[in-house]
Amino acid sequence: TKYAVGVDIGGTKIAIGLVDERGELLKQVIIKTEHTIVEPIVKIKEVIEQVNEIITEFKIQSDDLQGIGIGAPGPLNGKDGILTEPPNLRSWWGAPVKKWFEQAFTCPVVLENDANAATLAEKWLGSGQGSDHFVFMTISTGVGAGIYSHGRLITGAYGNAGEIGHVVIDPSYGTSACGQKGTLEWIASGTGIERQAHLKTGENLTAREIFKRAETGDTELQNLVQTVYEKIGVGCVTLINLLEPEKIILGGGVTKVGEPLFAGVRNYVKQYAISSAGRGTEIVPAGLEQDAGLLGAAALILKQ
Ligand code: BGC
Ligand code: NA
Repeated sequence: TKYAVGVDIGGTKIAIGLVDERGELLKQVIIKTEHTIVEPIVKIKEVIEQVNEIITEFKIQSDDLQGIGIGAPGPLNGKDGILTEPPNLRSWWGAPVKKWFEQAFTCPVVLENDANAATLAEKWLGSGQGSDHFVFMTISTGVGAGIYSHGRLITGAYGNAGEIGHVVIDPSYGTSACGQKGTLEWIASGTGIERQAHLKTGENLTAREIFKRAETGDTELQNLVQTVYEKIGVGCVTLINLLEPEKIILGGGVTKVGEPLFAGVRNYVKQYAISSAGRGTEIVPAGLEQDAGLLGAAALILKQ
């Protein structure tokens, strides 16, 4: 059996997983992040220790470990393996994570955008199976996307293709972590939805509570939720008009609200897309849940 180690670096935690060539997640370890100035080097040391423990525990021969795939929020430089300036991970700016892993292991190490990695996982094991033209969009704390076109992942020059969350949708909105105004991430991310609800109601509601209240008749929150669906729809149409995917797969915490969100987004896609094919582009839920990041990081090694 061939194996890969997947590492998924996020805002609240780093997940480490052992994945085999069939896509089985055999072991998972979580390390919480703290956002201190010394965090990156300290945490990567912990990750490296954990990887070594996993290799020992599963008695993996060095020939069978195909590599270590790392998924992280962008913008990053995948070629040099550096997290350059991820807006939601400030303490990691400039961290040369690929180099740190290469110093500790002899196997190949790949760094790629987290949404791009999850896109490979959706292709391998989720809702992208059988499709050579699709986009995966994740809507959680951050908003990102991965483009799968003509049977391959489109990474761009350094791995930053598909940064849909930082597209300026309406500059009359507030300023995002990235410094731009009215980005899709500001409007439609989980934190963005909560912030807008706070501005409207003065209450600290979770995204889940906001969707619930909107469904049960709170008109102010209904308007907010409709705007969120509309702007996600605008993001989808932008992707559809540029890339003509067969489907757009939506995943991430915000999409857990389910059918109301999908129905809302489909409605705006129908209204705004230019071609009849685009108006018919399927908008579907992700097939993988929280493991997509880890499986995707492993897929960088096993499926690329
Ligand atoms: C980052 C993307 C990332 C997304 C989800 C965004 O803020 O810019 O690169 O894919 O969050 O983590
Ligand atoms: Na991306």
